Amino acid sequence: MIERKKDWEKEIASQLSEERWLHTLGTIEIALHLAKIHRLNEEKVYLATLLHDIGKAYPLEKQKELALAYNLLSPEDLRAEGVVHAKVSAYLARERYRIQDEDILFVIAHHSTGHPDYGPLGWVVYVSDYLDPNRKLVHQTTLLATCEADLKEGCLQVLLAKLQYLFDKRKYLHSYSVDFYHSLIQSFPF
Ligand SMILES: [Fe+2]
Ligand SMILES: [Fe+2]
Repeated sequence: MIERKKDWEKEIASQLSEERWLHTLGTIEIALHLAKIHRLNEEKVYLATLLHDIGKAYPLEKQKELALAYNLLSPEDLRAEGVVHAKVSAYLARERYRIQDEDILFVIAHHSTGHPDYGPLGWVVYVSDYLDPNRKLVHQTTLLATCEADLKEGCLQVLLAKLQYLFDKRKYLHSYSVDFYHSLIQSFPF
């Protein structure tokens, strides 16, 4: 059982909208549940999920300002939805919360696109962000069961659902998401 950082939780709750804070709590809950099943480092999973959306404490324009000022973005990052807040969250995790663990920072920085170098820690954060019960997804139970049985396969299914959304809305697909997809299908028999 990990010790939760109640002071950080209080501070973050006061900075995020109520909806965003509830989403953070839902993400933590799913992530710790999956971390137990798959015997992952619960401390890392907790910190990565607690801090993954802290950039959203700022309006999008301010997030962009910060990201540009600290050179956090590649030209492509500006075209894909959700990348700016992820990069700002990782920056704040390092600067404000003094997180030095590069695994945690890496996972936070890429949680919206996914990344081909993700392993179980990245997969768990990526799927939990999507499976937060507050999102009330119709296929949440089925997807969660898949993640419980096979985290990598569950991650692929979550990615496919997110890609479908991007295709339906004709939104930009970041190359990291494409590479993430290829990394997840690699061990499949074809
Ligand atoms: Fe996010
Ligand atoms: Fe999130």
